Amino acid sequence: MAGARIVLGVSGGIAAYKAVLLLRLLREAGHAVRVVPTVSALEFVGRATWEALSGEPVHTSVFEGTLDVEHVSLGRSADLVVVAPATADLLARAAGGRADDLLTATLLTATCPVLMAPAMHTEMWLHPATVANVALLRSRGVHVLDPESGRLTGADSGPGRLPEPDTLAAAALALLAGPVADPRTVLDLAGRTVVVTAGGTREPVDPVRFLGNRSSGRQGIAIARAAAARGAHVRLIVGEISVATPDGVVVERVGTALEMRDAVRRAALGAEVVVMAAAVADFRPVHAPEAKIKKAPGQPPEPIVLVENPDILAELVADPPDPQTLVVGFAAETGDSEGTVLDHGRAKARRKGANLLAVNAVGEGRGFGDVANEVTVLDAAGCVVTSIRGTKDQVAHGLLDVVAARLTARSADASDPVSEPRTTILR
Ligand code: CTP
Repeated sequence: MAGARIVLGVSGGIAAYKAVLLLRLLREAGHAVRVVPTVSALEFVGRATWEALSGEPVHTSVFEGTLDVEHVSLGRSADLVVVAPATADLLARAAGGRADDLLTATLLTATCPVLMAPAMHTEMWLHPATVANVALLRSRGVHVLDPESGRLTGADSGPGRLPEPDTLAAAALALLAGPVADPRTVLDLAGRTVVVTAGGTREPVDPVRFLGNRSSGRQGIAIARAAAARGAHVRLIVGEISVATPDGVVVERVGTALEMRDAVRRAALGAEVVVMAAAVADFRPVHAPEAKIKKAPGQPPEPIVLVENPDILAELVADPPDPQTLVVGFAAETGDSEGTVLDHGRAKARRKGANLLAVNAVGEGRGFGDVANEVTVLDAAGCVVTSIRGTKDQVAHGLLDVVAARLTARSADASDPVSEPRTTILR
């Protein structure tokens, strides 16, 4: 949606400086932005900065801009309201339905999506009053981002940091791009690139025949849809699928395992997450003749000699295009005399070394096609991280909850000097 009208609310916290960069990013994306700071926000960044960068007047009170009845018109005409940073006080006033300045009055009149990015000290974020206010706002359909963990204003560190401007912009643009299926969906993958593979590969036997498998692609496609709804840039690499691909994701179609391997390695560069939900054929015919194989009356058919395909997932782990990428695999298992589904899953988790492996039982009406799933998520050591039961959409969101938590923990480690390994320099 180009040329949208965005109201950027800014409340009084030190992180207001990040909203300046957010304003620039929204303007560069082609949108008109009207900045509505609170009076205390102007203590951190002055009116002149907001006016110069937005090219629009900046008011804080309902008694300014009265000819246009701004306290009603701004909210009514907006396509999106973003509040960044949203302080504990702003959240409390919004949750209480107060209208004691232009920003809160605008929030009461807005009928468009509303995105709030809280930022405050950890104690304030964890206080039961704030927790209740956030829950109330989310229950009304407001998208409240979780703050990041890391260094705060002083020497303290913990959850409460405003996400970086590009993450905020990505979350805002994701909301403008289309309705989010569930308004309570948390945009916790905003700004992240997620690669998902789905469906089965087809290995040619000759120009008309192939070796394939029964994968419908539903689980991978549910993951792609869920990741996009959570604000991620999604690149979906699909083999043979029996369902439609979701809107709002970049789709690349491939045929064979070798084509999928190339596509995944290209897409994985710069991606934060790769989810290998595809059913990749383990073997391919050594040779696929260019002409159709004919029956020879009275002659037995030539045997099809197979060669092993590369294991795309194991290669990603052993030789990652980007060492920071979180790699998630799937394991479709049936129990047998050698062990249970979970036994085989644990062995596969250790063998493949992916950061996470989602193990599901297949066969006898389970796992494939349009049926509910039961998935156990293991880490690289084969330890159970969580178990998820439900539809493929619920499994997708459950898995992405784990992925998002891992990404947040990584960013916290990277930005928090306290948790960085200490080096002693001897002089
Ligand atoms: N996978 C892959 N490349 C392959 C085979 C599988 O990347 N050539 C990935 C799948 O996308 C999945 C995971 O590896 O994420 C496990 O797939 P699965 O078929 O369960 O395991 P296999 O390695 O094929 O082992 P086996 O069939 O022997 O159980």
